[in-house]
Amino acid sequence: MRTLVVATFFVLAGLCLSGTAEAVTICYFGSWAVWRQGAGRYDVGDIDPFLCTHLIYGFAEISTATWEVEAMEPYNDLCVDYGQCAYSRFTALKNLNPDLKTILSVGGNSVEGSTFSQLSEDASRRKIFVNSAVEMLKNYSFDGLDINWMHPTGEGGQPEDKENYIALLRDLHGALADEDLLLTACVSLKKPVVDVAYDVPELSDVVDFVMLNGYNLHGPWHTFTHHHAPLFAHPADTGANALLSIDYGVRYWISKGVDKTKLVLGLSTYGTTWTLNSLGDTGYYAYATQAGKPGPYTATLGILGYNEICELQHGSDQWTVVRDPAMHEPYAYSTTDKTWCGYEDSQSLWRKYARSQGLAGVMVWSSLETGRLLGVLQRGGPTLIRSMTEGFLDLPFSTPVSHCEAAPRTTRECPEGLVWNTRPGRVHLALRHRHRALPHARPDDDTAGDSYSNCGD
Ligand SMILES: *[C@@H]1O[C@H](CO)[C@@H](O)[C@H](O)[C@H]1NC(C)=O
Repeated sequence: MRTLVVATFFVLAGLCLSGTAEAVTICYFGSWAVWRQGAGRYDVGDIDPFLCTHLIYGFAEISTATWEVEAMEPYNDLCVDYGQCAYSRFTALKNLNPDLKTILSVGGNSVEGSTFSQLSEDASRRKIFVNSAVEMLKNYSFDGLDINWMHPTGEGGQPEDKENYIALLRDLHGALADEDLLLTACVSLKKPVVDVAYDVPELSDVVDFVMLNGYNLHGPWHTFTHHHAPLFAHPADTGANALLSIDYGVRYWISKGVDKTKLVLGLSTYGTTWTLNSLGDTGYYAYATQAGKPGPYTATLGILGYNEICELQHGSDQWTVVRDPAMHEPYAYSTTDKTWCGYEDSQSLWRKYARSQGLAGVMVWSSLETGRLLGVLQRGGPTLIRSMTEGFLDLPFSTPVSHCEAAPRTTRECPEGLVWNTRPGRVHLALRHRHRALPHARPDDDTAGDSYSNCGD
């Protein structure tokens, strides 16, 4: 009888697991965070290999001399010339979580629209690019390629980009599928971009995941405050602004014929900031003619990472956090420097609704390095990304306390089932072993030994 109960339990547990396994959580890693100062520094070794189902390494570039894919920062990315081997350490996270998929992203801010345009218009250039991409993925054991061309036909492009973008993806799809490698595309959810840039059914046909950028919808290029990732429009939105919401964008993509089972909603762990003209007007549509000042780590006008937002708010009485009852996302403003910041916290991310639309899952931008908190702000509960996954799976919200008010923690967080210990464990040795097998690796390479390598059983 006991055996039967146990067996039944495992069958049920198996069913639950197969249910959750359908949801993807795709997390971008901004490799440049390794150069950030102090608590903002974030390297491959800091990544929790169990937090996401897919990790995307941002970014690789395209050579306009050869049309081959190339590393953005060979010293950090590769092992050659005593480099830091970040690609190899990234894909070696699969030693810790064998179910993890690792993907290399080409594009983002590091590739001009005109470069993508010139690459995709020429069949022989596409061939060179595709071959070099496959070689790159295989050399470093990536499981797939992501094309992060944000705005075909715009930003240095041409009207033919719409067709040529599909040609590029189709060529890639053919070569990658042969090697059992994934292809993803990161795209805009703004209607004016969708209308000119994408042949939606074709695009949906040739990639494994279509990832919608559900953020950066408003920003300091406007002279009024607004949340950059609103789930629904604000009651004061009219005209084109009323269409700048995640809800509208997702529905629009679905109406254009995207395969929902490939559609992934992209969420963010950063805030967009303005400097208010006056503290007399601090809500939505407050007059603000300047971008907010840069944060200490991300060092970008108009942007603050969640880690920076929390550090600024923590223990400070200069910030007022507001949850507009008509909206799902918080914003905060500083009464000293008049910064206005619309951002996401675990509660707002939990509420984003990918599941109820029958989508494949969620993607997170700039997730790992700005979503992580260190020192006094870190706590043991679910992170922002876990809240997103919980929301997607219709699980109850389990982070009632904001990270920013969190109690201090003294130990590092380890993946479930592993505990933090101070001496290097098996995992560390496994990574080292893998490094040795790579050409050009330093014989005494110890760079893989940080953070998670100290989690053991
Ligand atoms: C892949 O590895 C081979 C053999 O080491 C090397 O010749 C080639 O340049 C590498 N290609 C890329 C794109 O890294």
